[in-house]
Amino acid sequence: MELPAALRQAVDAQLQGVALADLQRASGILSRRYRAETRDGKWHLSDELAAQAYLAARLPATFAAVTSALQETANICPDFSPRSQLDVGAGPGTALWAASTVWTDLEKALLLEGSNAIRTVGEKLSAHAPVTDVEWRAADVTSGLKDAQASELVTLAYVLDELSETARQKLIAQLWNLTEGMFVIVEPGTPAGWQRILDARAQLQALGAHIAAPCTHSQACGVQAPDWCHFSRRVTRSKIHRLTKEADVPWEDEKFSYLAVSRQPVALSGQRVLMQPKSGGGKVLAKLCSTDGSVVEHLITKRDKALFAQARRVDWGDLLIAE
Ligand SMILES: C[S@@+](CC[C@H](N)C(=O)[O-])C[C@H]1O[C@@H](n2cnc3c(N)ncnc32)[C@H](O)[C@@H]1O
Repeated sequence: MELPAALRQAVDAQLQGVALADLQRASGILSRRYRAETRDGKWHLSDELAAQAYLAARLPATFAAVTSALQETANICPDFSPRSQLDVGAGPGTALWAASTVWTDLEKALLLEGSNAIRTVGEKLSAHAPVTDVEWRAADVTSGLKDAQASELVTLAYVLDELSETARQKLIAQLWNLTEGMFVIVEPGTPAGWQRILDARAQLQALGAHIAAPCTHSQACGVQAPDWCHFSRRVTRSKIHRLTKEADVPWEDEKFSYLAVSRQPVALSGQRVLMQPKSGGGKVLAKLCSTDGSVVEHLITKRDKALFAQARRVDWGDLLIAE
């Protein structure tokens, strides 16, 4: 997946003239802080250079993950077409760009962000977005969401890992209250990210939310540690992305976990593909999340004609429809 052309150009303009060595250094610091899930009271994106490093090194991957999660939600709920969005911990506006890629009817968005540095960058980028009614607000969301209006789509992408457990629970409850249609949470695809998604899933179900994706059921999650439910999206690295990360390969795989919950009941069906299926010799081996909540490794052979035809084409994260 690549960034939309308008976003790519706006990002390039933001990065023009920034010394590569500075971007590399800032990107290294950022990635160490994210990997360690550092919570020392400072914003990870504390200054202009850190914000620029995020654009160069992380935005392509978080855009790909958030777009995939929203696209899968749209596939499950084809009648859902939000006109308003509330995005919290918006960073450079990733979820706004992702949502407007998936839902072209999106008309207005409110983006809350605590770091001045990334908010300034995000505001400049969103001037080029297809959604024209975009409002950015400076807010530390752990101090409440005063004056945030309810929206049809609420998004929270790659933010929970920066909050304490108490702050997470409070924020999730507040965001659910502000959700008119769909609430989508995306986290890094690590065991810790998945655990935060599981916790949010239990909390939201207790609040009456209906699961839309990726689970194909509303039972307890059947994935057992040390395994964890996550997905992967291949991201094309631009030249600046590759140079900033000092990487040789022109792509990377972004691993992510997500949850979409709806105000309306959702008709769940099919089986979610939980890792890249292995195929060969007239067989496909697929790990599937089923409608009864169980996780099974299923060997599909040519004898299951319709299922086999479908299984050969599905990717990690897709739904296999035939039971
Ligand atoms: C990893 S970035 C994700 C940005 C964007 N959502 C994305 O998916 O690319 C996390 C963002 O959440 C913001 N954030 C973290 N804690 C916050 C808080 N308490 N209040 C407001 N923003 C916060 C950070 O400043 C940062 O921009």
